[in-house]
Amino acid sequence: MTVHQSTPSRRIATSDDLEVSAYLEIAKEKEGQGSQRPEETPKVSEGVVIIDFGSQYSHLIARRIRELNVYSEVVPHTSAWEDVQAMNPKGVILSGGPASVYDEGAPLAPGWVYQKKMPVLGICYGMQVLAHQLGGRVTPSTKREYGHAVLHQNVTDSALFQGMDVSMPVWMSHGDQIQSLPPGFSALAYTDNSPIAVMAGFDNVFGLQFHPEVAHTPQGKGILENFLYRICGCQSRWTVDNFVHSAIQKVRDQVGDGKVICALSGGVDSAVTATLIHRAIGNQLTCIFVNNGLLRREEAERVQRTFQQNLSMNLLYMDVSQRFLERLVGVVDPEQKRKVIGEEFIRVFEDAATELSDADFLAQGTLYPDVIESQTSENQASATIKTHHNVGGLPKDMNLKLVEPLRYLFKDEIRGVASALGLPEEIVMRQPFPGPGLAIRCLGEVTPEKLEILRACDWIVMDEIKGADLYRHLWQTFAVLTDARSVGVMGDFRTYGYAVAVRAVSSEDAMTADWARLPYDVLARISSRIVNEVPEVNRVVYDITSKPPGTIEWE
Ligand code: XMP
Repeated sequence: MTVHQSTPSRRIATSDDLEVSAYLEIAKEKEGQGSQRPEETPKVSEGVVIIDFGSQYSHLIARRIRELNVYSEVVPHTSAWEDVQAMNPKGVILSGGPASVYDEGAPLAPGWVYQKKMPVLGICYGMQVLAHQLGGRVTPSTKREYGHAVLHQNVTDSALFQGMDVSMPVWMSHGDQIQSLPPGFSALAYTDNSPIAVMAGFDNVFGLQFHPEVAHTPQGKGILENFLYRICGCQSRWTVDNFVHSAIQKVRDQVGDGKVICALSGGVDSAVTATLIHRAIGNQLTCIFVNNGLLRREEAERVQRTFQQNLSMNLLYMDVSQRFLERLVGVVDPEQKRKVIGEEFIRVFEDAATELSDADFLAQGTLYPDVIESQTSENQASATIKTHHNVGGLPKDMNLKLVEPLRYLFKDEIRGVASALGLPEEIVMRQPFPGPGLAIRCLGEVTPEKLEILRACDWIVMDEIKGADLYRHLWQTFAVLTDARSVGVMGDFRTYGYAVAVRAVSSEDAMTADWARLPYDVLARISSRIVNEVPEVNRVVYDITSKPPGTIEWE
């Protein structure tokens, strides 16, 4: 293993460089400004709590609220007041969920939701929880209601529906309905199948049988906006700039004069994590970048150049390609590959432990979906599709405290923060790249020769996608080196070469994805360049599988 403080690397001129260097100038300027501590630090001083009853849309509610510039967090329905009070809640939203309130053990809202007398909005199951706990009656509907419905308002002066049409399309997904209202409540609207589709009581408690958070309820965002600003009286604007200021302050408070290490992957999450922390504590941060031999062409050089030379961070560069490739000899099973790579990362960090021995904290780019997923997966048995891992998986016995400044952010918010920090466009808009790298795009055994073929193909795919100005519009774009060979003809000769698959997908969060309808001329250029420039490949196919049933990566 080579472990060394990286020296300035050879400069490789690429078309991206001009763009990157311009951004880096701005980044440096901002870096300078950022080091002068702001006189007054804007703080996020209020939020809205979303109580999760297990709906697939709970995250979406949080996203919508944040898009409306109010901070929000999704919390388990078992949360105590002490767990949420630091957020200074101005209101509560009860999410939907799969249960029926009359079932034994059905999840209900904690007592503080009612005791605090703050505004409450129950959505779908959340509305039924309100009705049930406040003395109304919920029963199974004779007709289940899934999909589009038309909502008609009974009244015209409700603050929740200010500015909305009297009748509007909404999205329903429920089997139970409110049979009788709780005392003090009235029905504000109905649909053909739900006589009580909206209810209100005590001036500030509302229930919606439909889902305002989904795109299929076109005026849903307006309803949520009314709830936040007219009913909860929210004022503090949750913006990326506010987030940056308060995150920097929080890191300073947490770390003091301690030392932090941060594993960089080159991706936007770890880049933002490192930059925020560097802005907060400067040289108390050391970044580690592991070259596992499974990176794309020029990736190691670019990451070093960006973080060390241009952002002036302490960087420990570890070129351990050889040992990863040795461990992968003879490994063909995808899960086995992931396991081997995950274990090897831990070993690398164990070996580096002496150099990192004075570290007190480990910084990780954990995002909010990871946090929610681990909250909800605790009680749920779910099938393992793939063992995902991130470079942050350090050995437990290193005994480091965690710093996770992005813990409450969604991916698109991270990109906003990256821009606000002045990070180069190349990083801000960088498509995700998996921890196990090219190994899971090189089917069958991973060998140095196959990796080189894959790198050459991947480079062409990226070049053409960027050239066609499609890169930023796609979630991921890459080449896969299949283990299949096929017969072809070049000139007057028979060829027998690899088949390469091109994968391009659009997605919001990688949970689902659709194959991208790339223009034929772009596909044609990619195919023609690959078979002409990469001699080992004589066939290119385009992957037209969505997720589900496919996954984004092939392994
Ligand atoms: P799949 O292939 O499961 O991937 O549809 C979903 C997203 O996750 C990325 N991915 C990973 N990211 N470590 C990571 O950091 C991993 O082990 C890993 N496996 C897949 C994948 O690129 C896609 O964006």
